[in-house]
Amino acid sequence: MNEILRIRGGEKLEGEVLVSGSKNSVLPILAASLVVKGRFFLRNVPNITDVYFMISLLEKLGIEVSWLPNNTLFLRNNGLKSNDIRYSYANEVRSSVLLLAGVLNKFGSASIMLPGGDKIGPRPINYHLAFFKKLGFEYKIHEGYVEVHKVKSEPKKLRLRFPFPSVGATQQSIIYSSSSNITVNLENCAVEPEIIDLIHFLKGCGADIEVLNRTIKIRGKELLANDYVFDLPGDRIEFLTFTLLGALIGRKVTVSGVQRWRVNNVLKKLQKLGVQIKSVDDQSIEIKETRKLNNFRIVASPYPGFPTDLQPMMAVLGSKVESRGVLKDNVFPTRFAYLEELKKFGINYKLLKNGCMILRSTTLIPAQVRALDIRTGAALVLAGLTAKGESEILDSYHLRRGYDSIDIKIRNLGGSIYFIDTALDEIKIF
Ligand code: UD1
Repeated sequence: MNEILRIRGGEKLEGEVLVSGSKNSVLPILAASLVVKGRFFLRNVPNITDVYFMISLLEKLGIEVSWLPNNTLFLRNNGLKSNDIRYSYANEVRSSVLLLAGVLNKFGSASIMLPGGDKIGPRPINYHLAFFKKLGFEYKIHEGYVEVHKVKSEPKKLRLRFPFPSVGATQQSIIYSSSSNITVNLENCAVEPEIIDLIHFLKGCGADIEVLNRTIKIRGKELLANDYVFDLPGDRIEFLTFTLLGALIGRKVTVSGVQRWRVNNVLKKLQKLGVQIKSVDDQSIEIKETRKLNNFRIVASPYPGFPTDLQPMMAVLGSKVESRGVLKDNVFPTRFAYLEELKKFGINYKLLKNGCMILRSTTLIPAQVRALDIRTGAALVLAGLTAKGESEILDSYHLRRGYDSIDIKIRNLGGSIYFIDTALDEIKIF
């Protein structure tokens, strides 16, 4: 299906939105199902294509997965049947690389497509491979895929310091170590809330994991689930996407479904910039349109820093800045390709070394643009809803990868936004 997103912007939004379960929590937890024997349930699973892709991969590897009502997934692991993860859609979802942990843990060898995912700059997996190398594995990179196999017995204990707090490499190492026979000390880890969620899930299956600042200590053991039920928390990036939407064009928008500690780092920053945010309870806030944002300098960095995933959307709110706002990204320093698309809405910017400067642009104009990845897609939605008139977003499938029912949620707030099948649209016109 060739789908676009059509938006009629310019309406002020009002009402309440309840965000869905966290994409970046559910994907690693699904990957961790490979190392947990038995049956378990995941509740509050978001309906997004990245989850569907991941489920297909799990099924190929021998996990039984079924959808139950109310966004619940049932999973049963009675043993894996394959160590080959070379499916074309494996490189669609970045998190598929996390399947390496479970497969290597069970078979001692694996072949996996080199991961794809968002086009947000280089996304190597050398830290993941360095971890496996320390455990006695060797790897060979082929055209499009990597082969990993055990050549030496593993040490009893391992200490590893990551060069940078990588979310993926931290998750990979936790999943592998938690069901191994060794004790692992990981230093300079990423500690994003989604990593804490993975640890909670694994602990519920018996894992022995301690977290102290950026150090994570894991004593490996057999992991079992006996009809274990795990509730996925709300998606903090989706929560913050709607927060920024409220700050752009909200008459009064209530966003709920995420515990405050997960988003406080960003909410405090936004309040400092003049965004009107009122706390309703621990899981909800109320936001109104911000007329003028204070000049800012935001540097995206590992949690608890400003999330890199929110950086493209911040550029849209940045158009309301008093005179100028600087955006930099320490996590993905070249994540600024989206600015070319935002420019079509009349957002003014200047490129800086590893960053940009957003200049005040009072009125946005409608545009036809292309989503480059999930978060660029979200930034374009924010700009399209702000610009008065009809905008179109091509390659809108990226939004379906990471946002559950974004169109319906926005329509419930009074916005006009529809996924259109372009083939059908043509039939309608002629
Ligand atoms: C995850 C998130 C993504 C988010 C990102 C940063 C998922 C599915 N994705 O991506 O939404 O934008 O965290 O919060 O949860 N690096 C290396 N070598 C490696 C691994 C990483 O050099 O082996 C570098 C990367 O190029 C990047 C930085 O480390 O510059 C951080 O990457 P990482 O935290 O691993 O991002 P992802 O796990 O891919």
